[in-house]
Amino acid sequence: QLRAGRSRILALVVLDLGNPFFVDIARGAEQAAHDEGLHVITCDSGQQADREQSYLSMLAEQRVRGVLLSPVDTSGVALETFRRNEIPYVFVDRRVPADEASSVSVDDVAGGALAARHLVERGHREIALVNGPQILAQCRDREAGVRSVLADSAARLSVLETNDLDVASGRDAGARLLGMSPRPTAVFCANDLLALGVLQAMVSSGVRVPEELAIVGYDDIEFAGAAAVPLTSVRQPARRLGHRAATLLIAETTEDTAPPARQTVVFEPELVVRESTKT
Ligand code: RIB
Repeated sequence: QLRAGRSRILALVVLDLGNPFFVDIARGAEQAAHDEGLHVITCDSGQQADREQSYLSMLAEQRVRGVLLSPVDTSGVALETFRRNEIPYVFVDRRVPADEASSVSVDDVAGGALAARHLVERGHREIALVNGPQILAQCRDREAGVRSVLADSAARLSVLETNDLDVASGRDAGARLLGMSPRPTAVFCANDLLALGVLQAMVSSGVRVPEELAIVGYDDIEFAGAAAVPLTSVRQPARRLGHRAATLLIAETTEDTAPPARQTVVFEPELVVRESTKT
């Protein structure tokens, strides 16, 4: 029984709707909402804290039923209005302490470690990490996972940071990789869009993947397996993330029951090996 008098609209605020990872989160959330007769509106912060804040203010004013949020930076995000107005919120793709809110995420340190271990086991000793901005916990955690594995190996790590996690930034990083000396034999990209951009830069320069450069992406979006050279990727169960986060949020708006205990749900990532690392 949903609480009477409340809006039937849930909101989802994501970092980048151009990234199929977030589209899959939205689909999972939609499914859970639909099953309860609710609707979801999706807002794209474009990874901009000020745009995120303006969406959050609008959603509080509109008194939506609840909010699923994939924040730019949890320390900066202002959620007092939601607390004051008793509008529940759940973090998705971001882990926060359970006394703050429920959250549903994937263990990104483990994901970074999976990718690095795979490359070391394939014999790579010059490894590059193409990472997004450090403001994103996902990027900090994936890098920490990589470093934890490489610290115990003979491999050397070079880090190339990009502002965005999109294909264009991947292409730019690919051009930078080509100019490096010694040139890395393998690269781990913080998401698949970056990896697809790196792959494109290699293909257009005649560099063979994986023979001259092995590539690992992250997320395992549908396009990773459909690329010219199918990409090895660290899979995140994006639909399940969205579905579980929406289910937790809906439970917080349900009457007849005491508010449920907040939950910290952490899924395990999974390495999917394809041609881009098979030598
Ligand atoms: O938003 C950046 C990245 O973090 C996405 O590609 C996805 O990997 C998420 O977890």
